Amino acid sequence: MKKIIISIDGHSACGKSTLAKALANELNYGYIDTGAMYRAVTFYFLENRVNIQKTAEMEKALKRINITFKSTVGGNRTYLNGKDVEDVIRKMFVSKNVSHVAAISPVRKMVVKQQIEMGKLKGIVMEGRDIGTVVFPKAELKIFLTADEDVRTNRRYDELIKRGQKVSIKSIKENLRERDHIDSTRKDSPLRKASEAVLIDNSNITPKEQLAMVLALSIERIRTLSIADKKLVATKPKPEPQKNTRPTASKRTNQPAPQNQRAPQKKTPQNQPNKKSAVQDTKPTPQKKSNQPIAKSQNSAQQSFLKIQSDEKPAERKTKITPKQKAKQPAKKVVQQKTKPTPAAKKKPNKPAPKVQKNEQKKVTPKPIGETSTEAKAKKVRTKRTNKK
Ligand code: DC
Repeated sequence: MKKIIISIDGHSACGKSTLAKALANELNYGYIDTGAMYRAVTFYFLENRVNIQKTAEMEKALKRINITFKSTVGGNRTYLNGKDVEDVIRKMFVSKNVSHVAAISPVRKMVVKQQIEMGKLKGIVMEGRDIGTVVFPKAELKIFLTADEDVRTNRRYDELIKRGQKVSIKSIKENLRERDHIDSTRKDSPLRKASEAVLIDNSNITPKEQLAMVLALSIERIRTLSIADKKLVATKPKPEPQKNTRPTASKRTNQPAPQNQRAPQKKTPQNQPNKKSAVQDTKPTPQKKSNQPIAKSQNSAQQSFLKIQSDEKPAERKTKITPKQKAKQPAKKVVQQKTKPTPAAKKKPNKPAPKVQKNEQKKVTPKPIGETSTEAKAKKVRTKRTNKK
């Protein structure tokens, strides 16, 4: 089955992670939380006191950052230079700074490069803010999620409380509002919906319903693309096997040439290779004709017909008379008229039956008709004429 890239972008705390993880699980795809990458960079800068106002210092620090993910039973975990930072990057001190760090172009450049690498093999669900617009603008399926601000605030509150953090609804609401504003208004890769992305407002639907919707969309997309791929393979032009076929070049390209070529093949008892059908298509010389693998009965019938033809030719040559002979034989016609021809002789000129012809020829022309016998006949005729007179 074809593997695709599915991008899930949207506002903060709109349930992107929940949906992306579940979808990746259903499709047996990889899952990448790109927000975690910006959070990891932010944590590194804070921990190492990197001054983001000093570009050179910041770029030097970026080269020392390596972010990886590990899939565990409890879910994906984010690693920064080999250290598990999954819990710490979700803390409020990181959330308050991450949108500022994520707006810095060299940071985005480094993170996006890694994301493109991660999606190279496809079969991935990637969630973030710019996946469908910048990271994978050719993603096969794009989803854009949103929800009411209050709904999102409550969801984030529940999530952080579960993680054991002490937070207030008010601080979360302010943080979400501020991050959405910075993310949507920054110069580099602002948060926005890709024109072809499917917009889902999940304020009033359960995560299960949302998953069912997106899963159906994904399966349909994968199916459609798989069919399109198969069609593409099927319509790929095959190398033309025969060059000596009769149709002209234009006919060969426009016409379903294989039909022309296949027809004679089907008539043969065995499935003949193309090479042989090409021979059939070309005008056969007698030599080629005799080499044709035709059916046994057909073959013997044809051979006997050919034999008869060859038997016939010398006989025809023998009965041919020269103009000189013709002049000497005016009475022959009369004799012939008078002589009662045998039924076989009568049939001779019209009857196509080879056997009869063959026998007849043997009968009628048992001896070669020479000059002397012609003269003798002429004499006989002349004698008969004088007798009559
Ligand atoms: O998805 P999140 O809340 O963990 O993301 C943290 C921040 O990272 C968010 O404020 C915006 C930023 N971000 C981004 O700019 N581009 C992404 N693709 C993902 C996240």
